[in-house]
Amino acid sequence: MLTKAPRGTKDILPDEVEKWQFLEREFRKICDIFGYKEIRTPTFEHTELFLRGVGETTDIVEKEMYTFQDKSGRSLTLKPEGTAACARALIEHKLYNQSLPLKLYYIIPGFRYERPQAGRLREFHQFGIEVFGSENPAVDVEVIGMAVKFLKGLGLEDLDLRVNTLGCSNCRPVYKKVLHDYLSSKKGKLCDTCKVRYEKNPLRILDCKNDECKKVIQDSPKILDYLCEDCKGHFTKVKKLLSAIQIEYTVDPMIVRGLDYYTRTVFEIISTDLGAQNTLCGGGRYDGLVEECGGPHIPAAGFGMGIERLIYVLESKGLLSIPKKGIDIFIAVLDDESFETGYKLLFDIREKGLSADIDYMNRSLKGQMKYADKLAAKYTIFIGEDEIKSNFLTVKDLSTGKQQKIGMNEIYEFLYKNIRKGCC
Ligand code: HAM
Repeated sequence: MLTKAPRGTKDILPDEVEKWQFLEREFRKICDIFGYKEIRTPTFEHTELFLRGVGETTDIVEKEMYTFQDKSGRSLTLKPEGTAACARALIEHKLYNQSLPLKLYYIIPGFRYERPQAGRLREFHQFGIEVFGSENPAVDVEVIGMAVKFLKGLGLEDLDLRVNTLGCSNCRPVYKKVLHDYLSSKKGKLCDTCKVRYEKNPLRILDCKNDECKKVIQDSPKILDYLCEDCKGHFTKVKKLLSAIQIEYTVDPMIVRGLDYYTRTVFEIISTDLGAQNTLCGGGRYDGLVEECGGPHIPAAGFGMGIERLIYVLESKGLLSIPKKGIDIFIAVLDDESFETGYKLLFDIREKGLSADIDYMNRSLKGQMKYADKLAAKYTIFIGEDEIKSNFLTVKDLSTGKQQKIGMNEIYEFLYKNIRKGCC
């Protein structure tokens, strides 16, 4: 126990962390280009927020939340997703009084007590965006378009984008009733979970991965035939704008999403490389959430993208080979006296903004050279008795093997010129 991370969690080790940093940089870059500002919300929120926001009949709320009481007896929950917390912050800080739409992004850990398997963790990470304040279908398409552009920019070409609409509070109840009636004679064939869903939220049955349930719902009535005029118009515009920005998509009436807050547009980006947990990114419109959480009527849309899944897909396609980041300078020393000189130089060089390191393990000179190689140093500076006496340093370019003597006073200029290519 003591030496093992909890089930469903993962350490991100130094060798791997550069991939995360790279993706985080790329995500921040595209957020910047699309005009999104970062928001950071707490890791835990009042449990009530998710009961209301995510929905009491969802798997997340029924089975998967990490809920605990703090020492004052408050019920708190580790965020299972990022949207509800953004809606709460929007209400708390009246962010809706700023000029709208409000475009937010976040990079967060999410916590869900699920059965761990490939692509499914109990602590996972998400890139997410949320746009608050506009009902315009162009916002739905901006959200989808940004997810697609981000993934394509990383080299993922063959994306499977599925879109659907879940209607609104006017037309969805009509469809729910039609679906309920359709399933009433077939209830016995459903899996146990879907038998409960049939009573509480029959729409979720459309999303069930069980083969028997899939057969039952195959020919079920489709929501697209029960949309009100407004929702129909909204969906038509979404499809038109997706085509206008040349994003390929499939309309899939079985996409219902696992969270209750969605209205109208929903979408998922699927990757066949992911196996059973194949959704890389999911999102949609949620016009009722802010009101549900106690705020004014603020329509919204957004997406969440699993970072672990993204890394898995990119790696399986060979699209995530980050060149090893080396240090600029390694200082090799011959003895105690030269160590002191080298140590001072080390701090001076670092102060100038170049990366540098020295040996702390009493390695031989040969050992230090091997270590410099491991650190992928660009240059090694040798310091021994001769160097100290002569006030010259021996500098070796490790990419060419070329060695030269540089005066102590010229060393920074030399390093800058060669490492930063002249910028000082
Ligand atoms: P979600 O579909 O629950 O949506 O999660 C979004 C993405 O997070 C999934 O497509 C998947 O890549 C990743 N993910 C979810 N659960 C796990 C897990 N247990 N292990 C690994 N990855 C996981 C949401 O969370 C919504 N808040 C998205 C949204 C934002 N909708 C509107 N705005």
